[in-house]
Amino acid sequence: MGHAPVQDSVEQATTTHAGLAAWVAEIAALTQPRDIHWVDGSAEEYAALTGELVDSGTLTRLNPELFPNSFAAFSDPKDVARVEGRTFICSEKERDAGFTNNWMDPAEMKAILKDRFAGSMRGRTMYVIPFVMGPLDAEDPKYGVEITDSAYVVASMRIMARIGTDVLRQIELTNAFFVPALHSVGAPLEPGQQDVAWPCSDEKWIVHFPEERSIFSYGSGYGGNALLGKKCLALRIASVMARDEGWLAEHMLILKLTSPENKSYHVAAAFPSACGKTNLALLDPTIAGWKAETLGDDINWMRFGKDGELRAVNPEAGLFGVAPGTGWSTNPNAMAAIAKGNSIFTNVALTDDGGVWWEGMTDDVPAHLTDWEGNSWTPGTGRPAAHPNSRFCTPIDQVDMLSAEYFSPEGVEINAILFGGRRKTTIPLVTQARDWTHGIFMGSTLSSETTAAAAGAVGVVRRDPMAMLPFIGYDAGDYLKHWIELSGKANQARLPKIFLVNWFRRTSTGGFAWPGFGENSRVLKWAIERIEGTADAVETPIGFVPTPASLDLDGLEVAPSDLADALKVVPAEWQEELRGIDEWYARFGDSLPAEMAAELEDLKARFAA
Ligand code: GDP
Ligand code: PGA
Ligand code: MN
Ligand code: MN
Repeated sequence: MGHAPVQDSVEQATTTHAGLAAWVAEIAALTQPRDIHWVDGSAEEYAALTGELVDSGTLTRLNPELFPNSFAAFSDPKDVARVEGRTFICSEKERDAGFTNNWMDPAEMKAILKDRFAGSMRGRTMYVIPFVMGPLDAEDPKYGVEITDSAYVVASMRIMARIGTDVLRQIELTNAFFVPALHSVGAPLEPGQQDVAWPCSDEKWIVHFPEERSIFSYGSGYGGNALLGKKCLALRIASVMARDEGWLAEHMLILKLTSPENKSYHVAAAFPSACGKTNLALLDPTIAGWKAETLGDDINWMRFGKDGELRAVNPEAGLFGVAPGTGWSTNPNAMAAIAKGNSIFTNVALTDDGGVWWEGMTDDVPAHLTDWEGNSWTPGTGRPAAHPNSRFCTPIDQVDMLSAEYFSPEGVEINAILFGGRRKTTIPLVTQARDWTHGIFMGSTLSSETTAAAAGAVGVVRRDPMAMLPFIGYDAGDYLKHWIELSGKANQARLPKIFLVNWFRRTSTGGFAWPGFGENSRVLKWAIERIEGTADAVETPIGFVPTPASLDLDGLEVAPSDLADALKVVPAEWQEELRGIDEWYARFGDSLPAEMAAELEDLKARFAA
């Protein structure tokens, strides 16, 4: 191999930041690593680390003619998704974690973690990754330092966040606070013990201490559990910072749209995991004259600007996209970004010529593959070749349609917010909220069928407020209150309009009622025309739904009956839905904001009228 080994030495482990130096020393003493490596974030370091991961069998180097500088990883089959049942918010008071989170007394949890992390890095290198979520030149940059014993995590963090020496120097220069984020795969190596390709532990702990703003992750190497800048910091801890500091940390894509009249709009959309954010963020519009540009595909930090407008920033630097269903016909922009290389794929299938494949990538299914579990696979095998939650991890600046404003620390003004989920029935293609508070109600009652992005059953309808169910770092009722109170300070005329969408409704014969993907541009156009006051709608008890004629269907072949299925509001389905919302709201107890209870009563009254 043409790479030099990564040089590790304790002498190299220096920082002028006293708090950081002390924390690193404390964790080294606890976890007892073989050596310590301070991650500088350079291309040379990345080459060396990925080279070592190839040598150790964790990564497979892909054919550079197909996917330059790209690698595939295959996880332990029991470590393929986020583990919500093992995720904890350990606030001082149980009440502050709320009913949507697992809670344990912080002191009790600290004792457990101390025990698990004791010696957990024996025989391994401990990596120290300074990182910042969002631009380094932001007014108030949010820093973290992840300590991990996984080189796969280091390589993935380099794609997903801004990491390395520049960040460390600025943390030191400003003596900044950083979120300490400790990660171990929980698989220490005894002297002479042979490592496995994907070390992890059967016991997993993903733990957040919201008051001290710290993160501990043990036992898993999977992205959402182990890349601690993403879900743990940029959503769970950031949601608590946002509550305290007066902003919003949301599970949303950010998309810029420019009309044929050359007017630009920015849309934020919250969909649960594996419900279409990355696809909509890389939308290829099918309507003439409209241009789409990407700002973010998973996380959106929003604050009200000096004129009371809502501004959005994507704190991440990469895409961590669901591979299956991402293809040249459905998402050519993602495919083009991936094809530039510099990517890490996890749990996809390998082609015989050293490339990758997953269900939906191409219309033709390869005659032979190696599946994600390493077995020989043919189309007759009867199992998916790629895991349903297999992922591509790709730098966002490889997206050709990336908006220049992605790099701006001031972010962009949001004009529309979409809430959406995966529902076979009941929820129309698009519904405009009656007003802002009704829109928050729509978000608070959002529901979706569960997906493979989290461990557990798939296809079960559950409520997922603002698509944040697994990510709200505090009490869910307080979270809704925060949305309501914060927007009270906004310029009311510039508040975004809110819409509920559902790309996944089925017809009576079981197919999708709406073709989705690039055709969703038609729905966005309707939403923008509603903002401009130029599109027609029917006022229904649940809000404003398009008339069939108000949607631009030019060049689209969609059966009128399918369109009717996509748009219909069926009172019987809504009676069932109202029962579901009643049950959901009952779980909030005293913490449900009165405004939300009133919205539910109004909705019931409109159906009864
Ligand atoms: P994310 O996890 O929210 O970012 O969701 P993705 O954009 O990665 O999509 C998750 C899955 O939903 C993939 O298999 C996509 O192919 C599929 N998907 C995304 N958008 C649509 C759509 O508009 N219609 C349909 N039918 N499927 C979609
Ligand atoms: P997703 O991101 O929302 O793109 O699926 C990962 C996750 O939420 O686990
Ligand atoms: Mn997500
Ligand atoms: Mn995504």
